Amino acid sequence: MKKIALLTSGGDAPGMNAAIRAVVRTALFHKIEVWGIRRGYQGLIEGDLFEMKATDVSNIISRGGTILKTARSKEFRTREGMEKAYHQLQQREIQGLILIGGDGTFSGAVEFFSHYQLPAVGLPGTIDKDLAGTDFTIGFDTAVNTAVEAIDKIRDTAEAHDRLFIVEVMGRDAGYIALHSGLACGAEDILIPEVQTDVSSVLHRIADDESRKKTVHILVVAEGDDMEGGAAGLFNRIQSDFPNLDTRMCTLGHIQRGGSPSCADRILASRLGYAAVEALLCGKTQVMAGIVNDQVVYTPFEYAVKQHVNMNRDMLQMIRVLAV
Ligand code: F6P
Repeated sequence: MKKIALLTSGGDAPGMNAAIRAVVRTALFHKIEVWGIRRGYQGLIEGDLFEMKATDVSNIISRGGTILKTARSKEFRTREGMEKAYHQLQQREIQGLILIGGDGTFSGAVEFFSHYQLPAVGLPGTIDKDLAGTDFTIGFDTAVNTAVEAIDKIRDTAEAHDRLFIVEVMGRDAGYIALHSGLACGAEDILIPEVQTDVSSVLHRIADDESRKKTVHILVVAEGDDMEGGAAGLFNRIQSDFPNLDTRMCTLGHIQRGGSPSCADRILASRLGYAAVEALLCGKTQVMAGIVNDQVVYTPFEYAVKQHVNMNRDMLQMIRVLAV
């Protein structure tokens, strides 16, 4: 293999730059030319590619975002868009593709590679941790730590005012950020899409806490929780059912996607970037590189997408026991 291309796609995640660095440096070590594709699949369709040198990735291991930029391409979902993308790769005689992204990126890849033949390896880059075939995804650890820092601060002000706070965290339709940040912050309750939310039991637990003169409550709600009206709906319901409680809501939003990647994310990204290039050289294709029990494993794109993920539900039970 003499020439490969690399892109980041979907929502950016802290550690994507560390992954780009590892891919570029490993490829150059093997004397493989690397072409960076700007703005994900959309940039590929438009032919926005450039050859990357070792110095292009200097000092990016600690930077959030992605130097290649990213996008969610609607055009790539069409057959015409895919044809244009393939044409760009063929024209430049690209022999392998490395994709860094999440669920949408690999779902797009499954469709693309059902029509076109080209060796491709993926890296799990998403704060949502909603991919099977890896214990962690690049960006998740940093996002959770950002959420934890924010929720700890919210608890300080909640304590000062004796308030109930609903904190909405990201995760699309996965509850991992909520589950992990909630456990780490000693949240009183955590609502996630993987477990059907029964609003009346949530209200019952609040009433119970109130009767025990517990004055501070932090409810961490995943943005994808199934309850009607989401976090905002719950906020309204609590305000009307508990007029004596001083209730506030805070949506953490995109701060969870930014910032310098944690040590764990830098290591994960470096290991997987290295592994992805090695995998292409060994003839692996249409697989995502992940780490399970500290070992690199390769999972076909179609299995990596989220419906195969198993959540550790014991953690949820534990949260209710620990938050007395
Ligand atoms: O997939 C990452 C993610 O941050 C999700 O948690 C969130 O639902 C979504 O992206 C937000 O996307 P956008 O930045 O396009 O609004």
